[in-house]
Amino acid sequence: MVCLGNICRSPLAEGILQEKAANAGLMWSVESAGTNNYHTGEPPHPLSQKVAKLNGIDISKQRARRFTPDDFELYDKIYALAEDVLYEMQRIAGKKFDASKADLLMNELFPGENMDVPDPWYGPEPGYHEVFKMIDDAADAIISKYGKINTISSSDKANNS
Ligand code: 4NP
Repeated sequence: MVCLGNICRSPLAEGILQEKAANAGLMWSVESAGTNNYHTGEPPHPLSQKVAKLNGIDISKQRARRFTPDDFELYDKIYALAEDVLYEMQRIAGKKFDASKADLLMNELFPGENMDVPDPWYGPEPGYHEVFKMIDDAADAIISKYGKINTISSSDKANNS
């Protein structure tokens, strides 16, 4: 999950998808990053933390990091939260950019519409609630689409315990 600063939108996206995957019994590794390094090492924005917490998700331990070309080797899917972010990912990744792995997050919900998750950085709390809802709906779509591929069955769980 990639945005600009990795402190407002993508930490919410990481927390939301990780939570839904865990609840669905999926062994997914979900991470987030930013295309700039202005906030590297910082925790998520206080309003992102607040809105996540109101929805039962703790994102306080996340720390911002910059997106790197190697992320295209480490991850199966890389979602940009907005189109300007996708262009920056392409520029940063250079030859490692893999169009088959990269997409706009909201295209999972509204295919082909290239909708951005708006940047709440400059505004008040309602913007963060709007962002949470958009990401939450997109994450549901991701779980529905990819969740059946590697769900741990109850018999696997029994064998592993
Ligand atoms: P984010 O929001 O990309 O959702 O983390 C932003 C946070 C900080 C800045 C821009 C966007 N900034 O310019 O510092």
